[in-house]
Amino acid sequence: MKNKTILIQGAMDIEVEYFISQLEKKEKHIIAEYEFYTGYIHAQKIIISKTLVGVINATTATTIGIIAFHPDIVINQGIAGAHRSSIHIGDIIIGEKCCNINAYSMPTKQEGHSSNPFEWEPNKRAKNIQLGDKALINTFKDFFESNYDKTIYVGTLGSGDVFNREFDRISWLQNQFNHLCEDMESIGTYSVCNRFQVPCIGIRIISNNELTNEQLDKEQAIVLQKFLIDFLQSKAF
Ligand code: 5AD
Repeated sequence: MKNKTILIQGAMDIEVEYFISQLEKKEKHIIAEYEFYTGYIHAQKIIISKTLVGVINATTATTIGIIAFHPDIVINQGIAGAHRSSIHIGDIIIGEKCCNINAYSMPTKQEGHSSNPFEWEPNKRAKNIQLGDKALINTFKDFFESNYDKTIYVGTLGSGDVFNREFDRISWLQNQFNHLCEDMESIGTYSVCNRFQVPCIGIRIISNNELTNEQLDKEQAIVLQKFLIDFLQSKAF
C-alpha cells in the first residue's frame, strides 16, 4: 500500500534536480518564491521541495510545505560536511537527533579585550535537541545497511548557518554537541515538523571533510537521490 504523501526536501538545485527528473505527472507550484513539485515516483505520492540554503529558508519552506500539501512524512536530504575524521565522502548519516550548533551565550568583554569563541557556551536553543521519527530511522537504517557499500551512521546532525572550515573549531563543536556532520537546513525542518507533529527524518551524504582534507564533492547529492529512489522502489509507505 502506497497511500502516504512524502515531502522530500533539498536546498540546492543539485540536491533536487534528479528527483524532479524522475517525477511522473509532475506539477510545479511556487509559493512565496519557494518551488514545490508534486507527482509520483514508483507509485508513491511525492512532493519535492527546493528549500534554498540556510536555516531560515528551510524553516520557511517546511512550514509552507506542511500547510499547503499536508505531507504524512518529511525527508530532509542533501550533502553535509563530516565533523569526525572517521567519516568520509559518500558515507551516509541518518539523523536520529538534530541540534542547532550556532546558538551561544558569551561572557562580557570590554573594548580591546578581543574575542574568544572557545569561551562561548551553547545556549538553551542549542540544547533544545530535536528528534527524528523512530520508525523512519529504523526503516531507512535497515534498507541502507543492506543496500549501500559505504558506511551508514545513525546519530546527531549538527545544523546552522556557518560552513565551518577551521580544524580546531570543528573539534570544539564536536566536543560540545557530539554530532556527526554539519549542514545548514536540517534543524529548521526538524523544529517545524516536531511542532506540527509530522514524522520527519534527515538523511545526509557526506560531501566534504575538513578534518581529513576531503574537498567538497557536490555530485554526492546525486548518489543520495538515486539511492533514495531505489528505496522508494522497494519500500512502501
Ligand atoms: N558545512 C555546512 N553546510 C554544508 N553543506 C555541505 N557541506 C557543509 C559543511 N561542511 C550543505 C549545506 C548547504 C550547502 C552549503 O551544502 O546544507 O545547503
